[in-house]
Amino acid sequence: MSITILGIESSCDDTSAAVIRDGVILSNFIANQDVHAKYGGVVPELASRAHQQNIIPVVDRAITEAGISKSDIDAVAFTRGPGLLGSLLVGTSFAKGFALANNIPLIEVNHLQAHILSLFIKETDKNIETPDFPFLCLLVSGGNSQLIVIRDYFDMDIIGQTIDDAAGEAFDKCAKVIGLPYPGGPVVDKYAKLGNPDAIAFNKPKIQGLDYSFSGLKTSFLYHIRDSIKINPNYIEDNLYDLCASLQKTIIDILMGKLRRAVRETGITEIGLAGGVSANSGLRNALLADAGKRNWKVHIPPVKYTTDNAAMIAITGYFKFLNKDFVGQDVAPQARMDV
Ligand code: KG4
Repeated sequence: MSITILGIESSCDDTSAAVIRDGVILSNFIANQDVHAKYGGVVPELASRAHQQNIIPVVDRAITEAGISKSDIDAVAFTRGPGLLGSLLVGTSFAKGFALANNIPLIEVNHLQAHILSLFIKETDKNIETPDFPFLCLLVSGGNSQLIVIRDYFDMDIIGQTIDDAAGEAFDKCAKVIGLPYPGGPVVDKYAKLGNPDAIAFNKPKIQGLDYSFSGLKTSFLYHIRDSIKINPNYIEDNLYDLCASLQKTIIDILMGKLRRAVRETGITEIGLAGGVSANSGLRNALLADAGKRNWKVHIPPVKYTTDNAAMIAITGYFKFLNKDFVGQDVAPQARMDV
């Protein structure tokens, strides 16, 4: 018997729905919210209003594109948290209503676990190479930078994490300082390809153990711009590509340094990359280069599954369905949750 799961994601500013059958993706539709661009960041109240407008057409489209009907769906999985409460509430309420109306089980999904389990999404029913347990995952997004040991689908231990800003925040906040649009990460990635990564040296944190810190880099970047503009008012325009390349290199060096240490300390050489920042081309290349040199086996998700998407919610829902891990109608969204 095949198992078909509808996944719903609404934790921040993307409304997404996806259908997965037996671990194979049938559809994954994402509606982005342009309304935030002019504010330079996500405005929670506007995000939840946009989710309310998007949710029904997005789910409808995912079901249509999957070529199935509502009655084929065995369970609905939704993001319970972490995220913006008002945004989560829209997806949670919709999923509850959908489960009740169609008399199917409801499955809550932790958004961070889902980023990691995106490494198990299959594009076809042919066997693909998925990570073997245990593996080490570098989870890097707008809200998280964590090193996690994954022992099984739902057995995960954080062994290092940021003590202040996340890697994605470092990209976005520094990008804002030099006038780039939100989210800055993809723009920095694009311009970095045209610049010299060794042009400018920014401060790197000296944090013990496997934890990360990015707030010092943000300050170092800000002061560098402030001081340079005093000498050359056109400093940003004149050095935009070098600034992006040097910033990106510093963030990657920080991330990779702790990852190497985690490999040394755990002895695990099977590595996964997940989260929005894993779309970064420099980080992908750095990981592949290290893997070649150090004999690591790496798993990098396709770019479309790196930023927020419902395919990762549906695959997590699929594994929970196999465990009969369902929740009742009294489930409530949670703004804060660990893996
Ligand atoms: O995982 P995600 O979509 O949302 C969270 O759950 O946080 O991650 C969003 C973050 C943003 O900070 C964005 O700038 C960053 O991922 N990002 C990138 C790239 N694409 C997205 N950062 C660097 N390079 C990219 N290509």
